[in-house]
Amino acid sequence: MADSFKAADQIAAAAKQNAAFYLTEIPPEIEPVRRLLEYSGIAPEDADAHIREIRDKAWAVFPYGAIGSFKFLDMNPTLKDPLFQTVTKRLKSSGSTEAFLDVGCCLGHVIRQLISEGVPSERLYGTDLQPNFLDLGYDLFRDRDTSKATFVSGDMLREEDPGHETLIGKVDIIYASAFFHLFEREDQIKAAKRMVGFLKPDNQNAMIFGNNGGPKIPGWEKYVLDEMSWRLMWDEVGKATGTSWRTETNVESDDKWIKVRFAVYRIV
Ligand SMILES: C[S@@+](CC[C@H](N)C(=O)[O-])C[C@H]1O[C@@H](n2cnc3c(N)ncnc32)[C@H](O)[C@@H]1O
Repeated sequence: MADSFKAADQIAAAAKQNAAFYLTEIPPEIEPVRRLLEYSGIAPEDADAHIREIRDKAWAVFPYGAIGSFKFLDMNPTLKDPLFQTVTKRLKSSGSTEAFLDVGCCLGHVIRQLISEGVPSERLYGTDLQPNFLDLGYDLFRDRDTSKATFVSGDMLREEDPGHETLIGKVDIIYASAFFHLFEREDQIKAAKRMVGFLKPDNQNAMIFGNNGGPKIPGWEKYVLDEMSWRLMWDEVGKATGTSWRTETNVESDDKWIKVRFAVYRIV
């Protein structure tokens, strides 16, 4: 089957599967993004219509449930993550030259958050499979001509992707929010190996962090990395890349849901 037909089929199937997530009302959780839109110069009274228009364009690119439900603009898990706060301070500290990459950045709201907090945009990078998401990010935040952040599209599951060339050995800190749980173990390892290649090889403080989680529906263990699977994955990634990593996880779990915040720190 030609690739364009395959993609159209995947989009149609996802639209059907995720139809129930599509909301017409904007939920209160996206208030931080409404505030962030002030950075874009959008008048508060125009913000909701603007958000709806961009959400519908993003839904047409790929109908992820998180796009239909506006969750893709929910900044609260990121803002409440203590490690994200530490990293923001690290990036803003005087004399810092460190660069930050958001993998699976979607429309790049986390990058705009860091810019709004005063991190120099030239040290910020975002990458996503969907180039149209990156374009829609510029439309949402209206900063195509003002931001010096770098956004590149590429597939984290490919061993090489020309789109990613500019990232190789370039960054110090990688953020991966709601990303690893899209894949099963073999693909998670592929993506993690690519991330190691993006880190500056000489920064002993290089780190990768983020979160994953979801409902405990049958088979969830294959997607959501808990404490043990996160550690085993990084043992394997370390062996394959000649690097060594200390892992950290914070797991919140009940009968129905699991949420994991994770980090890995380079030790060699
Ligand atoms: C669930 S969204 C998470 C977005 C954002 N990080 C957040 O936390 O809201 C997953 C993102 O990963 C991107 N993605 C999916 N597969 C990918 C791949 N193979 N390579 C790069 N990005 C991918 C999707 O396009 C989407 O923007």
